[in-house]
Parts: sequence; C-alpha cells; structure tokens
Amino acid sequence: MAERLLLVGFGNMGQALVNGWLGHGREARTIAVVDPRPEALAAAAALGIAASADWPAAGREQSADVVVLAVKPAQLEDVLQHYRILSGRSLFLSIAAGKTIAGLAAVLGAEAAIVRAMPNTPAAIGRGVTALCSNDHVTADRRALCTTLMSAIGSVEWLDDERSMDAVTAVSGSGPAYVLLLIECLIDAGQQLGLDQALAARLAVGTVAGTGLYAEQSDADAAELRHAVTSPGGTTEAALDVLMSEGQLAELMGRAVRAAAKRSGELSSE
Ligand SMILES: NC(=O)c1ccc[n+]([C@@H]2O[C@H](COP(=O)([O-])OP(=O)(O)OC[C@H]3O[C@@H](n4cnc5c(N)ncnc54)[C@H](OP(=O)(O)O)[C@@H]3O)[C@@H](O)[C@H]2O)c1
Repeated sequence: MAERLLLVGFGNMGQALVNGWLGHGREARTIAVVDPRPEALAAAAALGIAASADWPAAGREQSADVVVLAVKPAQLEDVLQHYRILSGRSLFLSIAAGKTIAGLAAVLGAEAAIVRAMPNTPAAIGRGVTALCSNDHVTADRRALCTTLMSAIGSVEWLDDERSMDAVTAVSGSGPAYVLLLIECLIDAGQQLGLDQALAARLAVGTVAGTGLYAEQSDADAAELRHAVTSPGGTTEAALDVLMSEGQLAELMGRAVRAAAKRSGELSSE
C-alpha cells in the first residue's frame, strides 16, 4: 500500500514536490496538505488533494507515514510543536534551509526519525538537485522512500555527514542564483556589443541551458569539455584569458561560495 504523506506548507517548494509526485504516478489520495493560505488550499483541491488550513486531528495521526515539512525556516519550530505527537510513528522529512537534525529533534524528541533535505530552485521544473542526510533512527527502507520522494523533483545525493550541508547549501542550494547572475552578465555584455536585449537574453539562456545539459550528458568532465572548445589563438581563448588571468573567476567563485557556507553555518546556529 502506498505511503501516506502529510505535506506541511504548500508554497513554491511544496507545490513543486506535489507536481513531481503526481507526475511520477503517486495517487493524489495518498497526499494531504496543510497550508493557511486560501490560494494554496484551492491549488491543492484542484489537484484532487485533501487540504486544510490547519492540521485536522481526526484520524490523520494514524495515517501519516511521512510528514514533509516545507514551511519557511522561521516558521518551522512553531509548526513542529503541532506535529510532534506523530514523532513515534512518522518519519519527518524537512526541507527547511539551515534547520539541523538536532534542532528538529529538540522539539520532536531524541527518538524521532528525521531526514534533512536541501533541494534547489530548478525543482520547480523537476530538475533540482537535493542533498539528504538522516539521523540513526531512519531505516534503510525509509531512506529509500525519501530518495523516491525527492527524486520526483530532480537528482538526489545522500551525505554521510550533516556538516557537509553548509557546503552543499553554498554550492547547489544558492548555486542557481550564481548561474542566473552569469546569465545577466552575458546579456549585459551582449548588449554592450550592440545586440538587442531580447536576442542577447535568448542567446545567454540557451547557452547556459544547453551547456548544462551537454556537461551532464558527456562522459568528460567540465575542464575537458572546455579545453575541447578552446582553439589556440581563437575567440574562446581570448575570453578565457580574461576570465582566468591570475585565477580571477576561480578566486571570486571560491570567495563567494565560502561566504555562503559561512552564512549557512551561522543560520544553523541561530
Ligand atoms: N524555494 C526554494 O528554491 C528552496 C530551496 C531550498 C530549500 N527551500 C526550503 O523550502 C521551504 C519552503 O520554501 P518555499 O520557497 O516553498 O516557501 P513558501 O513559498 O513561503 O511556502 C511556505 C508555505 O508554508 C505556509 N505555512 C506557513 N505556516 C504554516 C503552517 N503552520 N502550516 C502549514 N503551512 C504553513 C506558508 O503560508 P504563509 O505564506 O501564509 O506563511 C507558505 O504557503 C523553506 O524552508 C526553504 O528554506 C526552498
């Protein structure tokens, strides 16, 4: 029998998850949603999913195999208080950025089975990357279930050590914004060379999207692919000489990612 999912928070990420689950064949009747927003409730109802503004106690506590926590990090602690009654039997899967397993266990109890996940924005189109880690109370079967649930919005990586979550947050969690900035910069540079904005945008977005797929589908790593398209004395080399002189871009990216990791660590301990 299919596991019963209780999804708490039906905003951007909650809706991406449900779209992924339904798209991968999960039946709507196995999902229940809680969200206070009328628009969220209407969106869930339109998908045939039982939805309510707060958690209806009647009967639900027996049927939630997994409680998926998709509220804002600042809302999580308050939300957890309402669901800790389930901690003896349900698995808790939290996607709240910066909220540690220990922090959740402090509310849910030391014996609670907890998985912490960090997805990223392309989850909205089923192309996210999610890193997961769990505490010792999560069985192999439940880890496999979490892999299935998060695979519905993209690829999944399990971490051996939760401490890697700050680095993951800095690389893939915040990463889409770095790539979007690269797109913006390419568009600006194209305009400075006389292209109109719309054309420059199509060229830049198409180039980033296509190159990502190309790198994903190739057996060669990114550096090998770059070397293969860089002819000595050619146009690409002229640009890379600027980007790479004295390690400029690598140095800048390293600083940026370290700043994000540091901030992730600070947020986790607040
Ligand atoms: N979006 C991303 O790309 C991304 C990436 C990685 C991780 N995450 C994590 O995913 C989580 C959700 O992010 P999001 O972007 O989906 O946020 P969001 O769009 O604001 O969705 C959160 C939803 O939860 C609702 N909510 C508030 N209190 C609730 C309660 N007591 N019970 C049930 N629902 C409640 C919110 O309603 P109100 O608006 O009325 O408060 C809102 O509809 C966050 O913790 C974030 O750190 C998101």
